[in-house]
Amino acid sequence: MIFLYRFSVLLFHTSRVLSKYFKMSSFLSRLLPFFTSRPKQRDMDFFGEALEDFSSNNLKSEYIFHLNSKLKKFNNRKSVFDLAIFFRSRSKLTLLENKLIDSSHGNILDIGSNTGYYIPFLMSRGTTTGIEISPAINNIARKKGLSNCITGDVFSYEFSNKFDTITLLGNEIALSGTRYSLKKMLAIFKNLLKNNGQVLMILRQLHTLKYWHVVYTPWYNGRFGIPAKYLFLNAHYFISLCNKQGFEAKIIAKEGPKDNLFYLLKLEKKAEA
Ligand SMILES: C[S@@+](CC[C@H](N)C(=O)[O-])C[C@H]1O[C@@H](n2cnc3c(N)ncnc32)[C@H](O)[C@@H]1O
Repeated sequence: MIFLYRFSVLLFHTSRVLSKYFKMSSFLSRLLPFFTSRPKQRDMDFFGEALEDFSSNNLKSEYIFHLNSKLKKFNNRKSVFDLAIFFRSRSKLTLLENKLIDSSHGNILDIGSNTGYYIPFLMSRGTTTGIEISPAINNIARKKGLSNCITGDVFSYEFSNKFDTITLLGNEIALSGTRYSLKKMLAIFKNLLKNNGQVLMILRQLHTLKYWHVVYTPWYNGRFGIPAKYLFLNAHYFISLCNKQGFEAKIIAKEGPKDNLFYLLKLEKKAEA
């Protein structure tokens, strides 16, 4: 695993340097998704450093993502990430985010709780727990007094109770990185949910393909972070996959233009015989 992570860092920097001189070398960067894993704690702590600086009004530079993908359309792109979205008040949330919160109930688990900004809104709907892989990021939530936000990896954390609602806001399903881990994630959700429990999630659809991978490499304050692979899904393909994994999945709302569409999905756990 360590070998793979070092290799992905090497491949990213080699292709970045070569592409300045040779146009043809962009094929190298398109190989990155094959050698990169889903986001891990060390990758997200880098993000945490910038979020901490933002929250203490001490942001040192823009936070930039370098994007690489097998698909030319998403390869060798750069985008500036607006960290303010992780500190929004309820009035700044989108229609889908508000609908998701209003549809949550009972014992709620928020995956990738980040700075914990959704947690108070979810707490108005039921007893809420947040899980965040990065201690650096979760520390921001803890400092706000949100002791119900735990540090842990949803793939391995051992919860002692079951949930009525699992929430994934902000296209969090992409954190699974691969289809193999996606199926593992769905199995974990099934196990964590009470009978007839639900997963509520916002899925961002940018393409008609069934699924595709994009590697995000962050840059902040003069340094690059570690490349991490995200899995993007077509909503209809994802729904059919969920239906095979013991859920009844459906779209309950959508928002945005055709080429940047957001879906609110509900996955209901089928009652076990
Ligand atoms: C893109 S942010 C989104 C935060 C927030 N949910 C939102 O929608 O604005 C994804 C968050 O998930 C966390 N994360 C990534 N992988 C995770 C995992 N395996 N378990 C728990 N949290 C994870 C990241 O550290 C990050 O804070």
